[in-house]
Amino acid sequence: MKAIVLRDLGGPELLRLEDAPDPTPGPGEAVVRLKAAALNHRDVWIRMGQYAGIKLPTILGSDGAGVVEAVGEGVDAALVGREVVINPSLDWGDDERFFGPNFRILGMPDGGTYAQLVKVAATNIHPKPAGLGWGEAAAIPLAGLTAYRALVSRAQAKPGETVFIPGIGGGAATFALLFAKKLGARVLVTSGSDEKLERAQALGADGGANYKDAGWVEKIRELSGGQGPDIVIDAVGGETYNACIDLLSAGGRIATFGATTGPAPKVETRRVYWKQLNLLGTTMGSPADFTAMLALFADGSLRPVVDRAYPLADASAAHRHMDESGQFGKIVLEIP
Ligand SMILES: NC(=O)c1ccc[n+]([C@@H]2O[C@H](COP(=O)([O-])OP(=O)(O)OC[C@H]3O[C@@H](n4cnc5c(N)ncnc54)[C@H](OP(=O)(O)O)[C@@H]3O)[C@@H](O)[C@H]2O)c1
Repeated sequence: MKAIVLRDLGGPELLRLEDAPDPTPGPGEAVVRLKAAALNHRDVWIRMGQYAGIKLPTILGSDGAGVVEAVGEGVDAALVGREVVINPSLDWGDDERFFGPNFRILGMPDGGTYAQLVKVAATNIHPKPAGLGWGEAAAIPLAGLTAYRALVSRAQAKPGETVFIPGIGGGAATFALLFAKKLGARVLVTSGSDEKLERAQALGADGGANYKDAGWVEKIRELSGGQGPDIVIDAVGGETYNACIDLLSAGGRIATFGATTGPAPKVETRRVYWKQLNLLGTTMGSPADFTAMLALFADGSLRPVVDRAYPLADASAAHRHMDESGQFGKIVLEIP
């Protein structure tokens, strides 16, 4: 098969198309012929060497959609030919609250989806939501799962609550917006681009501020009626995390799953206890989260936000686009 193989850490130019061995399914496994993959910021962290436990060479990519090509022993042969999306949360384990010791994310060390073929446990494949294109379906898995668990399983968002999502251009952030609106919440956002703020409002955001303006915290406070949002879904980290703790309403909750701008320098614990805040950590999601998340796409009312599609061979250009925070939503790779 053709695949993008990462052999060295560094710039996007290191993502090169090569011939790689076809995977064959072992017991309990399926091989999927991919039609599309999608990028996550994780792929960039790995490429740049800023991720734990990197093993090279590797094939990146956690998101994929395609057609089941072959199945291994013990797997229903009727799956062959089915159109599927892949849950990239591998071996989550039995505990709904957190993953077990064998947990891995598809796409390093396990060969990922920047390839024509990928091998996964058959329990990780799910029917592709009808009515979505291949790129849209491939956009869902990692970011959709993470946003769903953060917003629903962890923060337990309810209709009428105000949810604040900083950095709305991000892939996971756009899913949090879609899901929060579907749940009937009010959504406020920030972005470093006024154009992205407008696009978020077109998707249902109720207000926003540009985080490059010094007054963004006050603007979000004002837009939330003065008392601050009930929930924050944060992957920006850094100073933004502390600003969110400042912003949250009394009794509010913040679900955090990333630190794009680095770790929070100093958490103001006095605000945390005085306002009786709930600080929630979350990563990816359980098989039950994935199934519940995918069900939100069943009635055709939700469409993942796809920013742009590149041919697989141009994965380096796709990474450059993510390096520059150029995207609004997910960046897709089309696989020949
Ligand atoms: N733990 C997990 O399971 C998990 C899962 C998914 C993602 N993550 C992490 O979550 C983060 C987002 O991932 P992603 O794939 O959605 O990334 P992405 O698509 O590259 O999004 C990153 C976004 O961060 C925003 N941003 C950058 N600097 C900012 C600042 N100073 N203030 C506010 N926003 C800022 C930008 O928003 P604008 O474009 O609007 O300016 C940018 O689009 C990454 O750190 C990733 O590693 C973790």
